[in-house]
Amino acid sequence: MSSKGYSIVFSSRTGNTAELAEAVRKTLPEGTCEYFGSVNGNDDGSCASSAIPASETLFVGFWTNQGVADQATQQLLGQLKNRKVFLFGTAGFGGSEAYFQAILDKTKAFIDDSNIVIGAFMCQGKMPHSVRERYVKMKEQPDHMPNIDAMIENFDKALSHPNANDLEKLANLVSETVEQ
Ligand SMILES: Cc1cc2nc3c(=O)[nH]c(=O)nc-3n(C[C@H](O)[C@H](O)[C@H](O)COP(=O)(O)O)c2cc1C
Repeated sequence: MSSKGYSIVFSSRTGNTAELAEAVRKTLPEGTCEYFGSVNGNDDGSCASSAIPASETLFVGFWTNQGVADQATQQLLGQLKNRKVFLFGTAGFGGSEAYFQAILDKTKAFIDDSNIVIGAFMCQGKMPHSVRERYVKMKEQPDHMPNIDAMIENFDKALSHPNANDLEKLANLVSETVEQ
């Protein structure tokens, strides 16, 4: 990684992605961290360009909304030029690596070609209990979706994430990336 310093910028509604951001922070040298904190969104969900840290290397964290990075992160990514970007994110569904890859591919599409994506990581993140309650109510309806049991099972699986293993995997990937 360049000696010019780095920043960790993230968007997290319920704290999952913030846990990942903390793991990234603990892995990297403290002295060269230029900014650690949330994407400073405007009221309309966009990111003020003046709020984007100037660091050459940015670790950008997002939560998944409708199969892609949340809007504030999209806005941030869309404004970057000539940076090195490490993406990390959480998603409520986590059945397969292919699912995470699809989210990352859609998210990377917001990043201008002048930037280099130096790494990417995703794991599952727990969802609010209201989501499970909604699924259970749906199941009571005769015409519920055929995969409702799988949705409930996925919800329960997500409850423990991000877990220690997720955070360790992310920390290892960040270490390997910055050593290159
Ligand atoms: C409005 C909304 C939309 C969501 N859409 C998706 C989605 O499309 N796919 C998914 O896997 N998870 C989805 N989730 C789940 C979150 O991405 C997941 O719980 C994430 O870990 C939340 O991160 P945070 O705690 O950092 O906010 C959604 C959650 C909310 C509140």
